[in-house]
Amino acid sequence: MSELNNIALKILEKGKGILAADESTGTMTKRLNSVNVPSTPENRLLFRHSLFSAASMTDCIGGVILYDETIKQDISKKISIPELILKMGSAPGIKVDTGAKVLAGSPDEKITEGLDGLRERLKEYYKLGAKFTKWRGVYSISENYPSKLSIQSNAHALARYSALVQECYMVPIVEPEVLMDGGHSAEECYKKTSEVIQKCFEELILHKIDLRGIILKPNMILSGINSKNKISNEEVAKLTIKCLKNSVPSEVPGIAFLSGGQSEIEATENLNLINKYNDTNFIMSYSYGRALQQSALKYWSKDIQNIEGTQKVFNHRAKMNTLAAQGKWSKDLEI
Ligand code: 13P
Repeated sequence: MSELNNIALKILEKGKGILAADESTGTMTKRLNSVNVPSTPENRLLFRHSLFSAASMTDCIGGVILYDETIKQDISKKISIPELILKMGSAPGIKVDTGAKVLAGSPDEKITEGLDGLRERLKEYYKLGAKFTKWRGVYSISENYPSKLSIQSNAHALARYSALVQECYMVPIVEPEVLMDGGHSAEECYKKTSEVIQKCFEELILHKIDLRGIILKPNMILSGINSKNKISNEEVAKLTIKCLKNSVPSEVPGIAFLSGGQSEIEATENLNLINKYNDTNFIMSYSYGRALQQSALKYWSKDIQNIEGTQKVFNHRAKMNTLAAQGKWSKDLEI
């Protein structure tokens, strides 16, 4: 078994999932401002340090995706953030794309950038302790979108990124996110997401990626946020499995969903149903940002020195999602 496959399997073992704490400073500033906490490097570190030293890091969180600022921060003279994460029994990871920019030739769409100088940055992150990385391509649905150009160019970038990451002994998380924004139906989301994922694998194979050493991070199949025809959670789960079964090569060890704007409970409930109905060999887990942090952030903002209370809220959410990743969650476990 390849070393990269071992890393991927360890991150997602026993219902463990990934904490996506890789908000850029801009996004984190918006999150902190929304709960009236000033966005200083100290406050960003204080909140993240509380999460990374919580008990659930050992039992539920197999990996943490960091942002460039955080992977270089220390919690004391002796311990850096990646060292803390390793000490807790989890794996440090790093977001390496530099964001989605306007796609020339189709200015209503985005292309993710960050390939220039990536090989050198990866070496630095590896030395800092990173075991895996993340790159997010983003697509929106409307009548004419996503275009072939955006599907093709983002898949190409995801593949070139993955090749460089594997060359540097780390596991690439491949994240093609089809956004929930809009009034489209779930069927439309199914169709577009399938096309996007299939193109990604076509490029990954062309670029000779070891598919046993990646983690796919897709969206679930949902109707658009403004759609009048919502589907049930059962249908979300069944369509999501059908899409992945038809689009993802069987060598891929694990799939870790993004939450993409779903509420905390919705993201947990859908993941639980996906695992109840999962008739594939893929591990189906979570790589949530907002759906793991929202309540904890709100709680923390009331008293930013109350680390214990903040950790309790975070531990609960992590535990619920780890149960959901095994199909063992039920609503009455929520407090
Ligand atoms: P959300 O779970 O908040 O969608 O974030 C996941 C993520 O990493 C987006 O790139």
